[in-house]
Amino acid sequence: MSDFKFDTLAVHAGAKPDPTTGARATPIFQTTSFVFDDVEHAASLFGLQAFGNIYTRITNPTTAVLEERVAALEGGVAALAVASGHAAQMLVFHTLMMPGDRFVAATQLYGGSITQFGHSFQKFDWHVDWADATDAANIKKAIGPKTKAVFIESMANPSGRIIDIAAIAAVAHEAGIPLIVDNTLASPYLIRPIEHGADIVVHSATKFLGGHGNSMGGIIVDAGKFDWSKGNKFPTLTEPTASYHGLKIYETFGAISFAIACRVLGLRDLGPAISPFNAFMIITGIETLHLRMQRHSDSALKVAKHLKAHPKVTWVSYAGLEDDPSHALQKKYAPKGSGAIMTFGIKGGYDSGVKLVNGIELLSHLANIGDTRSLIIHPASTTHRQLSDEQKKSASAGPDVVRLSIGLEDADDIIAALDKGLAGA
Ligand SMILES: Cc1ncc(COP(=O)(O)O)c(C=O)c1O
Repeated sequence: MSDFKFDTLAVHAGAKPDPTTGARATPIFQTTSFVFDDVEHAASLFGLQAFGNIYTRITNPTTAVLEERVAALEGGVAALAVASGHAAQMLVFHTLMMPGDRFVAATQLYGGSITQFGHSFQKFDWHVDWADATDAANIKKAIGPKTKAVFIESMANPSGRIIDIAAIAAVAHEAGIPLIVDNTLASPYLIRPIEHGADIVVHSATKFLGGHGNSMGGIIVDAGKFDWSKGNKFPTLTEPTASYHGLKIYETFGAISFAIACRVLGLRDLGPAISPFNAFMIITGIETLHLRMQRHSDSALKVAKHLKAHPKVTWVSYAGLEDDPSHALQKKYAPKGSGAIMTFGIKGGYDSGVKLVNGIELLSHLANIGDTRSLIIHPASTTHRQLSDEQKKSASAGPDVVRLSIGLEDADDIIAALDKGLAGA
C-alpha cells in the first residue's frame, strides 16, 4: 500500500472490505469491548505479547483504519487516534516528560495550545520555554539541560506563517531531543513534516482531516526514527514499566515505541479515546482530503489577493502572496498551495473587527477552521482572549487581526460577502 501515491492512500490506506459482511465502507465498530478466545488469549493481549482488541479506550477496529491511513499519509510507522487535538498533545508530552522537565515551543501557535502549555501543563510540573520560531537560532538559545522536546506548527494558526521545519529539526537533533510538529493547518497533502526531519506529528483531526466541521479528533504520528535510548532522557520509553511487569517499551517495540507508549500508558491511563463514530467520520473526510485542500488553497489565494488591494485592509498574512515573509518557505515546504487560513488587519482596529464579524453574511462567525464552509473570527475577542497583550501580539492575534478559514464555496461569493461585510465595518 505504501507504494501508492498520496491520493490513492487517502482513499484506501488501512481499509479493506469487511471480511465477514463484505461491507466496502469501513464499518463503525460501535462496541466497548471484544470477546477473548480464552484466558490465554486474554493474558497475551493484556501483557502486550500479542496485538488485538480488548477495550475501545485502547484500540478499536474502526479507529485502527484511521490510524493506519494517517500514518501512511504522513509517512510515519504508526499512529494513535484520540478524542481531540489537545488530547493528542497531552499524550505526547505525557510520554516524553517527567515532573520538572521542560520543552521549547514556538510563540507562533494556536491560542489554545499556548494556554494548555503555559497553564494546565504546569500542574504536571511540565514547563514551557517560548521561542520565536521564525528563526531556528531562537529555538537553539531556548534549549537547556532539562529540555525534552521542541514543538512547532508547520503552518502557524492564525498567521499561516510557514516554519522552517528542517532548520529546527537540525537544532533539536543536535541537542538529542525530538521535534514535534503540529501539522493541522497544512495537512499531509500540503506539508509532510517527517520528510523534513520531524520525529512526531500531531493533528487536530477536527480540522482539515475530518474537513466538514462535524467531528472532534486528534492524531499522533510516530516517524519511527528517533533513538530514544541516547542520553537516557526518556525513561518512559527505556526504563522497566511497572504496570507491564517491568517490560521495556523501546527494547521490545523498537521503531513504533513512541506510538505504543502513547497508547498503552497515556491513552490507557488518561483515557481520552476517540469514539468509533467520529473515527468513521474522519476516515470519510480524509477520502477527499487532496481535493479539498487544493480547492481551499486555490480559493484562499484569490481571497488573499483581493483583500491585499482592499482599501479597508491594512495588511494580509498569507504565505501564498509573493511579498509575504513566508513565501520562500511556502515554495520549499508547501509548493501545492498555502492552505485555507489567513489573517488580515482591518482599518479601525478592535472595534471594526467586532463590527465585521457581527455583520458578515455567508461566512460563519465561530471558533473553528477547516470546514467546508467559510469561517471568520476576530481572535483578540475570542480564541486568543485569555492571552496577555504581549502574547496576543507574538501569536499574531493583535486587536486589528481577523482570521479567515476559506471554505469550498465559489470564491467569488466569498469575496462578495467579505466586500459587503467590510463596507459595513
Ligand atoms: C493548530 C491547532 N492545533 C491544535 C488544536 C486543538 O485541537 P482540538 O480543538 O481538536 O483539541 C487546534 C484547534 O483549533 C489547532 O488549530
